[in-house]
Amino acid sequence: MIVVTGATGGLGSATVEHLLKRVPADQIGVSVRDTAKAQHFADRGVRVRQGSYEDPGDAFAGAEQVLLISGNDPAADLVSLHGRAIEAAVAAGARRIVYTSQHGAAPDNPYLPSGLHLATEAILGDSGVAWTALRNGAYGPLDQVLGPWQQTGEIAQPEDGPVPYTDRADIAEATAALLAGDRSVDGPVTLAAPTAVTFGDFAEIASGLTGRTIKRVVLDDESWVAAQVANSAPEQATHFMLTWYQATRAGYFAESGPLLAELLGREPRTVADRLAETI
Ligand SMILES: NC(=O)c1ccc[n+]([C@@H]2O[C@H](COP(=O)([O-])OP(=O)(O)OC[C@H]3O[C@@H](n4cnc5c(N)ncnc54)[C@H](OP(=O)(O)O)[C@@H]3O)[C@@H](O)[C@H]2O)c1
Repeated sequence: MIVVTGATGGLGSATVEHLLKRVPADQIGVSVRDTAKAQHFADRGVRVRQGSYEDPGDAFAGAEQVLLISGNDPAADLVSLHGRAIEAAVAAGARRIVYTSQHGAAPDNPYLPSGLHLATEAILGDSGVAWTALRNGAYGPLDQVLGPWQQTGEIAQPEDGPVPYTDRADIAEATAALLAGDRSVDGPVTLAAPTAVTFGDFAEIASGLTGRTIKRVVLDDESWVAAQVANSAPEQATHFMLTWYQATRAGYFAESGPLLAELLGREPRTVADRLAETI
């Protein structure tokens, strides 16, 4: 059985949908905090059990593989929570744990989540079972990444660097292919779109798609933080995001890899494909 955690979230639920196309439903289980939110999977024959990283319960019983979706609570001690989930998966007899790590995870990467993903990968390395860390590319919605450029005609963000912005749906499909056994991959591996682009590239692509001149406007970090906070964004979250820009401009996300396309058996969706859909 393949047990998926976070199956009520965006990536986990889409991964289960793709698994259902590849694996009989009775070979799929989900570990969720609120089973009512996974009733649609139960209705299709998926085993739904209550479990959290704090208290995994018996949700991993019978799992050969566990997909451990990284937690999303910035206030939580995520490394400890992931550690508990890994311990429970090993105790339940899982032979492989697949973990959703982050593209560009490196000890000196200033983007704050990097450290927690590396620490979780280290726990996996000590777990005694086979493991895969999918270092997923940035898959945030493009309107959030770029801001209101369609209204303003400008991509006004801090200085950035190249990033292979990736479609979450592609990552889910590739993750399902991996779990279904299309490929076996050990340790950390990048799962991201093949081409890294900057906001300057986005402006060119958006100009081509719209026939308007979309400008790239570089804001200095302090003005950007002040504008965000004035716009009611929480200060801590704004400083957190600033570490993202710092990491992009230092080149931490510049490199990609072929695995996403290989698992999909096709080219991943490009930022141009995705931008075109929003216009
Ligand atoms: N690569 C990227 O660009 C990127 C972007 C955003 C996030 N991420 C990371 O990737 C993860 C998955 O992304 P997503 O888009 O699917 O996020 P999401 O939609 O927020 O889903 C997160 C899932 O994790 C579950 N979860 C959180 N804390 C948990 C805990 N303590 N015990 C059990 N389950 C817990 C949530 O359960 P509930 O439904 O019960 O809340 C939800 O199902 C995120 O959690 C985050 O770590 C990566």
